[in-house]
Amino acid sequence: MIEIKKVAFKRGENQIFTSLSARIKPGEAVLLSGANGVGKTTLLQLIGGVLRVQSGEILINGRNVEDLSIKEQASIRSVAPQRRNFSLAYTVEQVIKFVPRKLKVENTDFIIDTLGLRTLLHKKVTELSGGEQERVSLALAFCQRADYYLLDEPFSAQDSKSIKDIIKVIKSLKKADKGVLVISHNQEALTQYFDREIKLS
Ligand SMILES: Nc1ncnc2c1ncn2[C@@H]1O[C@H](COP(=O)(O)OP(=O)(O)O)[C@@H](O)[C@H]1O
Ligand SMILES: [Mg+2]
Repeated sequence: MIEIKKVAFKRGENQIFTSLSARIKPGEAVLLSGANGVGKTTLLQLIGGVLRVQSGEILINGRNVEDLSIKEQASIRSVAPQRRNFSLAYTVEQVIKFVPRKLKVENTDFIIDTLGLRTLLHKKVTELSGGEQERVSLALAFCQRADYYLLDEPFSAQDSKSIKDIIKVIKSLKKADKGVLVISHNQEALTQYFDREIKLS
């Protein structure tokens, strides 16, 4: 379980959270919504161990995220950041091979096929559309074996078909008892696909 306990966090003069508490359990998909600038990405970075809480704590599987080594973090949570910039001309296939073998899931074919990346495997990521690059970024996150998947605005450049394809992968993760946290600022049409919504304001 991911447990966010009375977390406070301030960025400069901007008090983003004063006492935020929330939980994400194995096997559930949770939508994290709220207006632009409210702190969704910040919360994901706190859970992901990129930022440190200023008070309160975040536990994953009973352990404080700040006590986890980078290796331990990688096996516990997989993150798809809001914008992953592909600046090097690797092919999609090469990018997916970035996931270390030890951490790689067995069903990479299912992920590649479901996200519509099969025909793009030999194309350079730098030559793909924004939506295609976003799906490569998601594939990279999904191909990493972890207990929790944290996806920051995974639908921002997707059409309705691709959104459904991504939801299909999320459903398969739920079945495998993984916890999934998905950020979206444009949530109304999406709530039906999730078990619960955490609204930040
Ligand atoms: N690196 C940063 N340094 C200072 N302030 C930041 C930084 N990143 C984001 N912020 C501010 O923190 C607030 C929350 O940002 P963010 O978590 O990215 O919001 P969201 O993802 O909900 O749109 C915003 O007011 C934003 O301007
Ligand atoms: Mg954001």
